[in-house]
Parts: sequence; structure tokens; C-alpha cells
Amino acid sequence: MTRIVCVAGARPNYMKIKPVMDALERRGAEVVLVHTGQHYDESMNDVFFRDLGIRTPDRYLGAGSGSHAQQTGRVMAAFEPLLDELAPDAVVVVGDINSTLACALVTAKAGPLLAHVEAGLRSRDWSMPEEVNRVATDRVSDCLLAPSPDAAANLRAEGYREDQIHVVGNVMIDTLLANLDRARESDVLDRYGLTRGGYGLVTLHRPANVDDPQALRGLLKALGEIAGRCPLLLPVHPRAAERLAELGVPGGIRLVPPAGYLDFIALQDSARLVLTDSGGIQEETTALGVPCVTLRENTERPITVSEGTNVLAGTDPERITATANRVLDDPPAPRCPELWDGRASDRIARVLLDGPPAHTRLRPTDLVPPAAGPGEHRP
Ligand code: UD1
Repeated sequence: MTRIVCVAGARPNYMKIKPVMDALERRGAEVVLVHTGQHYDESMNDVFFRDLGIRTPDRYLGAGSGSHAQQTGRVMAAFEPLLDELAPDAVVVVGDINSTLACALVTAKAGPLLAHVEAGLRSRDWSMPEEVNRVATDRVSDCLLAPSPDAAANLRAEGYREDQIHVVGNVMIDTLLANLDRARESDVLDRYGLTRGGYGLVTLHRPANVDDPQALRGLLKALGEIAGRCPLLLPVHPRAAERLAELGVPGGIRLVPPAGYLDFIALQDSARLVLTDSGGIQEETTALGVPCVTLRENTERPITVSEGTNVLAGTDPERITATANRVLDDPPAPRCPELWDGRASDRIARVLLDGPPAHTRLRPTDLVPPAAGPGEHRP
């Protein structure tokens, strides 16, 4: 039997790994779920395992919080002996967090086939830690599972071999579609006294937005103005909690604890507008047909703008307010990219289990660097 290690570490990983595990197991693979412990709080972790019906991880590395080097290094040091002990045929990593990169680096040196789910996304913004994680993880992966054609085009431009690249669709949307009916049964709107279409939903957690008081103050000013027109609900990420408490928030913005998976999907689904600096939420709002204003200068998910409901507003307060007003007056029409159809994880299982056996694959050592182009994006 093929043994596959699936890695998860933090909140945005859980909804991505679950359908992949299920699809692999349906096709007869033995799946070992490894949790790195990057996120550990009840509200950032346990509630997602319950809501999504993910089993208790088979192995837990307990890495916890810390600087990038500390966190990445702790995951690597704990994952290396485990990989040696488990001797899997393949390792699947998802997304772009520090745990993704840490386990990718260890796997690349240890030998099993490495598959990256969500390969090829590029913001071309090297100040984002996730961009470093994305590029480096792809570089050491054998199998690049891209959510959309634009991601595959980035990989081609960077010189990856055609046989490494597979456009499979978006696993996050597999989970969204599988759980939408259950999410719509949530009583979260009643609990917060909200009505469908009567509020905006906000999330903020990017270091560039929440770690710098000046930047956060500007965002809050813009959100305060938008809240004058449409009351806002802001579930607070632990990273932003202290600073938000220090600065205080304008009237019309209600701070609440982080939401679980089903509640958060319900909150997005009924929102008039979502304002966010998250990556995954740009995708979920597109799949739900809900207008999204992204509070960043760039996105690694441009397909949500060109083929979805996302609008990039940047971080300038006046531009954010103007963009939100425009979107409230004239919301983008719902539309959804191809292959975001709930079957991405089946395609992944097919690639991993029906493709050539792992040992016949080449390491991507023959990558040909392009002279220039989207791959050459370090300033
Ligand atoms: C991480 C990911 C980011 C992802 C985000 C989702 C990296 C580089 N960043 O950012 O891509 O979008 O998760 O949430 O991997 N904390 C808690 N409880 C927890 C976890 C964290 O209180 O369960 C607090 C700690 O103070 C910690 C801080 O949040 O230092 C940041 O956590 P960390 O995992 O380092 O980064 P995130 O900002 O969550």
C-alpha cells in the first residue's frame, strides 16, 4: 500500500488537507496526518478539527509560535526523525505557511516524493513571508499541484518541467462546497444580532497591516468610514488582538473572537461585503459570489480579481474607502474560475496514485531559469 504523509500546521491548512486526505484514502492509500503545532489554540485549531471532522492527528510535533527561523527550525528538527521512522512514499504539503516550507525542505533531502498543493501562486512581493515560503517550497517539490491556470503559467515561466505541473483546481473550494449546507444551519447571525446582507465582515492579520501601528491606524480610519454606511464585524486574529486593544476601534466596528470554520463560512455567505488581507478568503468569497475588497497592494490569487468577485484596494485609507463605496454601489457579478468545482482533491489523488511510481520521477534539477519574466521577481 502507498503510504502518504499529509502535513498540516495552521488554521488555513486544515480545510485544504482534509479533502486531500479523504480522496487519497478513498483510493486506497495509507494516510498519516502530521500536525506541526504551529497553531494550537482552541479557536485557531481545535474548532476546525471538530467542524471539518478531521481525525486527531496521527503525529503531533508541538512546534508552537516563535520567530520565522525558530518556528521553521523547530518543525524541521522534529519532522526529520519522524520522516525517517515513517518512510512514506510521498509527502503532501499545502499552502504557504512556515510549516509548509519546513516539511518541504526536510522531505526534499530525505527522498520521498514531495507534492505541493497550491503550487504556483505568486504575489511577487518578497516582503511577504508567505511568498518566500511559496517559491522555496515549489522549488524543492517534485509534483506541483496548481489551483488555476495562472499559477501553472507562473511555474512554466520559472522553468519547471511540464510533467511536474498539474492544474487540479482549488481544494479549499472542495471543503467549502462540501460544508456549505451545514454552515448555513449555523446560528452565528442570530448570536451577533446580524441579518443577511446587513453587515460587512472584516479580517486583518498580515504582519504588514497589523504589526505596524501606523499602518493599522490608517486601515481602522478607512474601516470606520465604511462602517458609517455598513456596520462591520471583525473576528480578531490573536496576532492583531493586542494592537487593536491598544489603538481602539472606531464606532460601527464590532470586535468578536475568531470564528470556527462553519460560523465563518456562514458569516461570509451572508455578508454584504468582505474586507480582508487573507489569501483564502479572497477565494471563498469568489466561490460564494460575495463582493471582496482586499486590503493589500498585491495578491497571489489574481484569478479572484479577473474571474471572481475580488477587488484590490491597497492599503491607502482613502483608496480603501473609495473602493468599498464603489463595490457597495455596484457589486461585482458572481462568477467562479473553472475547476473550482469540489473535485480538486480527487484530481490530486489521481495524479499521486495513478501517475508513475515515485522512484521513477526526477528531482527538479533540470529546471531551466528563464532569462527574465514572472519567475525573475526578486528586486
Ligand atoms: C500564519 C501564517 C499565515 C497564515 C496565518 C493564518 C506563516 C509565516 N504565516 O500567520 O500565512 O495566513 O497563519 O492564521 O506561517 N497565536 C496564538 N494562538 C495560536 C497561534 C498563534 O495566539 O494558536 C499568536 C501567537 O502570538 C503567535 C502569533 O499569533 O506568535 C502569530 O502566529 P504565527 O503562526 O507565527 O503566524 P500567523 O500570523 O498566525
